[in-house]
Amino acid sequence: MDTKNFTEKFYEKYGNRNEKPVLFFSPGRVNLIGEHTDYNGGFVFPCALNYGTYLLIRKIEGNILKFSTINFNDDVETELKGLFVNTSKKWINYPLGVINEFLKKGIKISGLEFLYYGDVPNGAGLSSSASIEMVTAVALNEFYNAGFGTLELVKMSQKAENEFVGMNCGIMDQFAVGFGKKDHAIFLNCDTLSFENVPIILNDCSLIITNTNKRRGLTDSKYNERRGECDKAVELLQAYKPIRNLSELNTGEIHLLEKYIKDPAVRKRAKHVISENGRVVEAVKVLKGNNIIRFGELMNLSHDSLKDDYEVTGIELDTLVYEGRKLPGVIGTRMTGAGFGGCTVSIVKKADSAKFMSELAAVYQKKTGLVPDFYQPEIGDGAERIG
Ligand code: GLA
Repeated sequence: MDTKNFTEKFYEKYGNRNEKPVLFFSPGRVNLIGEHTDYNGGFVFPCALNYGTYLLIRKIEGNILKFSTINFNDDVETELKGLFVNTSKKWINYPLGVINEFLKKGIKISGLEFLYYGDVPNGAGLSSSASIEMVTAVALNEFYNAGFGTLELVKMSQKAENEFVGMNCGIMDQFAVGFGKKDHAIFLNCDTLSFENVPIILNDCSLIITNTNKRRGLTDSKYNERRGECDKAVELLQAYKPIRNLSELNTGEIHLLEKYIKDPAVRKRAKHVISENGRVVEAVKVLKGNNIIRFGELMNLSHDSLKDDYEVTGIELDTLVYEGRKLPGVIGTRMTGAGFGGCTVSIVKKADSAKFMSELAAVYQKKTGLVPDFYQPEIGDGAERIG
């Protein structure tokens, strides 16, 4: 990130070189294991990336909010008068939703100029949305001395996404983006919100993220459909015991699902959630014991379950994963995020990384007609002021 150039762009856009804007950064995230468990009160294991969203922000006189982004040409100016309503300019809804949360809590916002720049791909399952929300939340918190703790900002950002943007996500993304820690993943219990930072030491291996570059399609509606199926499973399982969420069952109880859930699709959704929780717990344990091989096997099992039981993968993700597994040096590979497109995350021996990327790109392109992108991220810190 060239801070000088970014600041220059800010001045070109908004003028007044006498007052310096303040720089904030919020990461994207990759989830290592624990998919579609967060809204079921389960375990997740994400980490923050060194890719994310940069925000330069400055107070101005009056009541106008000015938004701009380097990523595309879509400037918006809007007046502060009561709460905002959702606009057709999609990206603006993320900051506006967050601003609304501040306003609802009685924080008086005044005129501001915002310039965003994101280097995490949009809609690729790496939480570009949570990243924009949290960078805005952290900046407003500081600018108006609002005094909210990180957890409160995380919840406000999730609320912005659920209620303003209209995507009924769980808490994982905003949490990972808010609480990220360099070289650590976050072992989070999404029911109690207690968490532990676990060091990610991969020795002779590295993380590789592969973007399917599949255009985002039905992700949101399918996501809500899965949530509905999980709610249905919880309802049916009341005949077994009074649970609030699927994560109150353990892997030893999976065999009981057949008795209580007749619809095979709903039963498979429940099976995925319960088995995935088991895999996350084991994954964290083996990682602490430095057993990367088993960690990789659990990543593979996670993907298989997301494909067969949760049915959120698709030809692009499956091609990357199953072709990837055939290549030398691949310890584990799975989809990450909501699914249906977006990215995979793989652990690959460093010595084999270059070959992994070139060979996978070739076979993926041949089978799907799409060209994938590869990222070799570092694990970074959560949202913060950086300048
Ligand atoms: C999206 C949502 C998260 C989580 C994942 C699936 O990223 O925003 O809350 O549910 O999908 O694990």
